[in-house]
Amino acid sequence: MSGKNATETLKANAEGIAKAARILQSGGLVAVPTETVYGLAARADDPVAVAKIYEAKGRPSLNPLIVHIDTMAQAEGLAVFSDAARKIADKAWPGPLTLVLPRRADAHLAESISAGLPTIALRMPAHPVMRALIKKSGCVLAAPSANLSNGISPTTAAHVAGSLSGRIDAILDGGSCENGLESTILAIRHDASLDILRPGPFEMEKLRDLGVVTRSSSEKIEAPGQLKSHYSPGKPVRLNAKAPRPDEFMIGFDAIGGNCTLSAAGNLAEAAGNLYAALHEAAASNLPRIAVASVPAQGIGIAINDRLRRAAA
Ligand code: TXA
Ligand code: MG
Repeated sequence: MSGKNATETLKANAEGIAKAARILQSGGLVAVPTETVYGLAARADDPVAVAKIYEAKGRPSLNPLIVHIDTMAQAEGLAVFSDAARKIADKAWPGPLTLVLPRRADAHLAESISAGLPTIALRMPAHPVMRALIKKSGCVLAAPSANLSNGISPTTAAHVAGSLSGRIDAILDGGSCENGLESTILAIRHDASLDILRPGPFEMEKLRDLGVVTRSSSEKIEAPGQLKSHYSPGKPVRLNAKAPRPDEFMIGFDAIGGNCTLSAAGNLAEAAGNLYAALHEAAASNLPRIAVASVPAQGIGIAINDRLRRAAA
């Protein structure tokens, strides 16, 4: 849709979800809450609808999209699942793990979703609103994070409106996103080896009893989330700061305070949930620079540090 049209905010109740489903069925764009971040959804089988996602975000067409599914039957219709892949999906879904798998030749998907790759990224989200929307629309949904390309991912409907208002048809407001960071992306190769393409909220230890051994990020950049600079607040960011300089907006953690804090209690899950809201607040402040306290690189802290490094690059 063009920049002139109004974006409607819908409550994430039965009525709002039904309206959003109709918009999607007719090829429109709707921002939807998931347990990670808000996604910008379009029906994945319609090349015109999918093209609107790239246009609204200003996203380079070489950056592929994640397809969100509601059932294993839908997933099996789009990707080739090995036994190992099926076991991983069985353990991890629904939840914040995206699997990159060989795309089926007969997958009923817009070509542009894979951006020329022979693979497809699939995720079964846990968020009830996203699941209800897939069910109600009867469409599997392509959905990148609902922000302008390279910007900070949205964890509230207000964040989405701040960057995409007037560029999309509707926003389903389902409150703030529980995890607050994008899904972990795991590529399952033909030779059954596994690569983590993007660290995220999914705890890989959950797969340990399957004997899963992963390599972290292959050398080759496959996911633009792996690009050095991403999630940009549009201002210089200084990491591991102990105290702010006079022109800095300080994002604290644990004992280090600031203009806002990721978690005064030093809780990493809470910090993940607050990270993008803090970066949005810092971006909107009058102060020209941002400083961030150090966050331990353990558990979800690994993904927090990954996003902070790219925001600072
Ligand atoms: O949590 C999430 O994953 C959110 C919610 C909405 O589901 N979505 C999300 O989408 O973060 P996006 O487009 O912002 O990030 C998806 C990443 C991109 O870096 C893209 O390059 C990568 O997934 N990707 C998609 N398809 C791929 C493929 N076939 N091979 C490798 N990387 C792929
Ligand atoms: Mg994104």
